[in-house]
Amino acid sequence: MKEVTMDKLVVLCKNRGIIFQGSEIYGGMGNTWDYGPIGVEIKNNLKRAWWKRFVQQSDNSFGVDAAILMNAKVWEASGHTSSFSDPKMDCKECKTRERADNLIENYAEKHHLDIVVDKMSNEEMEQFIAEHKINCPKCGKHNWTPIRNFNLMFETSRGVTDENQNKIYLRPETAQGEFVNFLNVQRTMRAKVPFGIAQIGKAFRNEVTPGNFIFRTIEFEQMEHQLFCKEGTDESFYQDYKKKAWQFLIDLGFQPNHLRYHDHDKLAHYAKEACDIQYLFPIGWSELNGIHNRTNFDLSRHQEYSGKNMLYMDPVTNEKYIPYVIEYSIGADRLMLAVLSEAYEEQPLENEIRVVMHFHPAIAAYKVAVLPLQKNLSEKAKEMYQTLKQHFMCTYDEAGSIGKRYRRQDEIGTPYCITIDFDTLENGTVTVRDRDTMEQVRMTLDQVIAFVQEKITF
Ligand code: GAP
Repeated sequence: MKEVTMDKLVVLCKNRGIIFQGSEIYGGMGNTWDYGPIGVEIKNNLKRAWWKRFVQQSDNSFGVDAAILMNAKVWEASGHTSSFSDPKMDCKECKTRERADNLIENYAEKHHLDIVVDKMSNEEMEQFIAEHKINCPKCGKHNWTPIRNFNLMFETSRGVTDENQNKIYLRPETAQGEFVNFLNVQRTMRAKVPFGIAQIGKAFRNEVTPGNFIFRTIEFEQMEHQLFCKEGTDESFYQDYKKKAWQFLIDLGFQPNHLRYHDHDKLAHYAKEACDIQYLFPIGWSELNGIHNRTNFDLSRHQEYSGKNMLYMDPVTNEKYIPYVIEYSIGADRLMLAVLSEAYEEQPLENEIRVVMHFHPAIAAYKVAVLPLQKNLSEKAKEMYQTLKQHFMCTYDEAGSIGKRYRRQDEIGTPYCITIDFDTLENGTVTVRDRDTMEQVRMTLDQVIAFVQEKITF
């Protein structure tokens, strides 16, 4: 039974140490979220799985960890200073701020209109909103300001004296950290095109309409991979990355019918071709990740603005060119939300409904929970817990009935519970309970280690 809603996920995350409201004791800070002890493990496991697939197992792929604060010229070159904005309108009555494109999209969906908002200019959007008398979703009145483009970059300043401050930005995407290091990576790793640069890191956006839990926040983490290739080979790499991105999700356990491709009609200022993979979130079909053919826009612009030569010389043909870039970008937090939503199940049992999170074992926070059947078995159980801890993340629980303890582990998605009983004292075997089937088998501790190790490999 799939009964997942955003509210249920928020409550489960709060009560099970997965995700808390940011700055909660001060009444919270809008659209910021803190990962708790269980959540940070899951998110780190997702990042590890991504890195393994797109760096470790990919040919000619290298990682970087660039600074969040970059020279302000980077954002001029990338086009973010002039074009990274959303069309916002304010309701003059209740001061609610809305994105004009969202107002139109919601209206079109409600009235079954086939409209491509992506292709509309600001004037066309204003006209549409006026003609269809689209009201403010909060107060219901129709009294909008004209559309203004609202730059999404967070500004801060840097300088040692008050008079001498330079405006700088918190990066709105990690991608530029890969582009500005193109020459460094190529030279130091003696990389030959095609090669990739990957990065996982924080990005910040002053979103006009953040919300829906961790779906759209003002601070989030991105996992981005830029594949540098020769013009002419770009289309084939673009198609490859569409498939690789899809396969990564399938291997994490997503059902194919919960995923779909969505090609973009309106392209970002840097893209020749772009598509999303959308996931059927509890809020409906929405973007999970993006794949863009960025052409040689970024490297050409950095060459122009920095004065550094970005030409790559083919060592075989001696041909010189600025590589094209195929970008694959996915938000770690958005992936987390999708994984939570996909894993959630309310399963009717005889006398109760069990909430169980079916995470891939590689992604689950704890791989094993060690549970003594009775308190007087705790000495042996703790000894086994100490051994298992050396191999993978484990937890220990001796409080409450065994049934309650299983439920607690089901709710955080622990794939295996091992129970220590009186037979353990006799022959050293334990029962291993599978989270999904609830079946139990007996094994020695060495067998448990080998068994779990194999299951948690991504
Ligand atoms: N470098 C390309 C780029 O940043 P994007 O489509 O703006 O492209 C890529 O963002 C991914 O980052 C999205 O598919 C989404 O997963 C994630 N993302 C973007 N904005 C976000 C936000 N405000 N909150 C959480 N995740 C976000």
